[in-house]
Order: sequence, then structure tokens, then C-alpha cells
Amino acid sequence: MLDRSPARVTSLYLHVPFCARKCAYCAFYSEPSGGELVNRYVAALIRELEMVADDLKPHTIFFGGGTPSLLNLRQWEQILRAMDRRHLLGAEEFTVECNPATVSADKAKLLRSFGVNRISMGVQSLDETLLDRLGRIHSREMVFKSFDILRRAGFDNLNLDLMFAIPGQTPGIWRATLAEALALGSEHLSSYEVIYEDDTPLFAQLQAGEFGVDEDLACAMYEEFVEQAIAAGFQQYEVANFARDERTAIQSPDARPRNPVPNFACKHNVNYWRGGSFYGLGPSATSYVRGVRTKNWSNTQLYCEQLEKGNRAVETREELPPLKRAGETAAFGLRMVAGWPFEEFQRMTSFDLRREWPAEMSQLARRGWGEILPGGFRLTPRGLRFADAAAEMFLR
Ligand SMILES: C[S@@+](CC[C@H](N)C(=O)[O-])C[C@H]1O[C@@H](n2cnc3c(N)ncnc32)[C@H](O)[C@@H]1O
Ligand code: SF4
Repeated sequence: MLDRSPARVTSLYLHVPFCARKCAYCAFYSEPSGGELVNRYVAALIRELEMVADDLKPHTIFFGGGTPSLLNLRQWEQILRAMDRRHLLGAEEFTVECNPATVSADKAKLLRSFGVNRISMGVQSLDETLLDRLGRIHSREMVFKSFDILRRAGFDNLNLDLMFAIPGQTPGIWRATLAEALALGSEHLSSYEVIYEDDTPLFAQLQAGEFGVDEDLACAMYEEFVEQAIAAGFQQYEVANFARDERTAIQSPDARPRNPVPNFACKHNVNYWRGGSFYGLGPSATSYVRGVRTKNWSNTQLYCEQLEKGNRAVETREELPPLKRAGETAAFGLRMVAGWPFEEFQRMTSFDLRREWPAEMSQLARRGWGEILPGGFRLTPRGLRFADAAAEMFLR
């Protein structure tokens, strides 16, 4: 019999809305963990998972947060067993975000045994003073120890997240953190410039004049990051994301990359940037399925109540007009070094970049921020530094 059902969604995100303590800069939805609420959340998440399981065949799974590694062994086991019952395990890439302070050998072993094969660790800095200033709960020693625990548990695909332009971070401190992080030999590295999010303590300190923002210094730190990561054998594939193409680090810095998206790129995020569908479960999570975007309540209590009543916990639902959706897809995809191959864009959106956005592409090319190639459009290294401004031009 012919299967006439639409193809199932291959990408799954699960949000864990708890942190041991809130970091000074962070606006992700999470709250300091509270005993019974965590158990209630686990039960609700499993219910939500069961509601969408028939429409899922995950190639990539990503547990983000918040701090997924804060869940205890029993809670993890409950979630992973539920996923197993609904045939949701076995993804090609299965990532769990971890805070270095909450990694243990037992947890690492359990996750690995259920098919988790990638860990993303929030390192941010390897300078104790800055870690403190950011309100992180971990020390630099915990980063090295956790990295070692994860390797011993068999994880051969590890990401480290760093931050730059942190108040008080000198070029020397940044260089030292970068060098030590690179020496760990992870397969993936991300680094974001500090964003001053509304309603965070760091933003309040900036407003109060406790420190200033130095854009030139931030640019210099970004350049240092790109240079050092490439010299260490990484390939840049997105504004803030670098990955190895092969497991070994040996690669001439000047070698032309063969593969525009290296093998250890985060496949889950590449799907976002390429405008693919995904389910997002848990409080505050967004889903984008067949052109419809929904967002769950950013309130764990309310999220649990809704699921306990047998409802999805959706706060907003938006069906984007096709051209608006294509504009967003264009904007997201331009964050990737590979830019947009015209044919791929047309396949994803049914629109032709050359027909709908010729003026924007020409303007970016004239400014030296973009490059019109025979088969596609991409930002130049300079354009990537201003990717947000460039991408905005494509929004309709
Ligand atoms: C959800 S967190 C990562 C996992 C875990 N919660 C942790 O922090 O260890 C995702 C990453 O986003 C980055 N990030 C969060 N807030 C940021 C901000 N305001 N500015 C720049 N980067 C930020 C950090 O590098 C962080 O590791
Ligand atoms: S950065 Fe990570 S650990 Fe810190 S508050 Fe945000 S989600 Fe939690």
C-alpha cells in the first residue's frame, strides 16, 4: 500500500527549563530548579512527547536549556525509556547540553547507553574571575574534569561554547582561554559575543555605567577567534560555529575546505538555518512544522498544568505567508558560510532568490559583504561579521 501520509518530522528539540542558578547574562527561559516541579516537568514532557511521537522520525535530537545535565539519573532514565517505547531513539545526532558542574561519570554513561552521541558544554571562559562575574557555577578545573569524563564515557563528538567581549575580559585573557579550549581537542567550537539581554543583571550593570561596550575590541576578539580556530584545524561553517571535517586535527590552515559544511557541524542547527521543520517540546520551546510556527508557554507550572489536562501547552500559533517564511529562511541561511545555493533555496521555499531579492544581493555585493556566485549567494568573511544586518534585508 502506498504511504500517503506527509513525511514525518526529522528534527526534535526538548527544552529543560532548570538551572542550578541563573547566570548574569542569560535570557533563556529557565529557573533555579525546584524539587517536585522537576518531576512534574518530566512527566509532562513525556506526555507531550507521546502526543507528537507518531509524526516524528528523528534524525537529530537536541536537549537544550536551561541545563539538561541537571536532571538526575532517574529522571533521565524515565525520559529516555519513554523515547525508546515510542521508537524515537537511534538518531544520527543526539546532543545534550551540559553545564561542566553537573557532569558525572554515571550520567555520561547512562546518556551514552541510550544513544546520546554528542555533548555541548557551556564553558564560556576559563578565567576564574570572569566565570565568577558571569555568575557561572563551575570552575575552570571542572571544565577539564568533565571533558575527561565525557571522553572516557565514549563521547567522540564534543562541543564547547565560549563567550567573548565579556566585561573585564582583556585580549590576553581571551587568547589564553581560546588556546586552552583549543588544546582540549573538541570536535566543535562555538563562540558568541556577549549579548546584553533586557532584564538580566549584566544589562542592569551596563545601564548603571559599571562598564562600557568596546565594539572595536569585540571585533578584534572575533577575528582572533576565527584565526586561532582555523589554525587549529577547525572549519568555520556559521558566524559563530566551527567544526572539524575529520576527527584528526591535522589540516593545513590554507587548504581549501572540500566540504562547505564540515562533518562535525551540528546537524540539528544546520536544519534550523536551512529552514527545515522541527518539533520543540518543553516550556518556551518553539516548533516549526509544515509552515506553522507554535510556541509553548514560558511558564513551567502552566506547561505542566496544560499537559496534565491532556492539552498541548501552546501559547501562540502562527501560519506565515509563504514569502515571509522564505525571507526568514533566506536570512537564517545566510548565517552559514556556504550561504544559499539557489537550487537548494528554491527546493526549501519554492521561491527563487534571484527573482525575489536581486536588489538586496547586489547591494550586499557592492558593499563587499556578499558574493553572487554562479550557483548561489553567500556572505563574505566581512559580511559574516555583520550577518544580522545583512540578513535583515531579506525579511519581508
Ligand atoms: C543554553 S546555554 C548552554 C548550556 C548550559 N545552560 C550552560 O550554560 O552551561 C547556550 C549558550 O548560549 C550562550 N549564551 C547564552 N546567553 C548568552 C548571551 N546573553 N550572550 C552571548 N551568549 C550567550 C552561551 O555560550 C551558552 O553556552
Ligand atoms: S547560560 Fe546556561 S546555565 Fe546559565 S542560566 Fe543560561 S541556560 Fe542556565
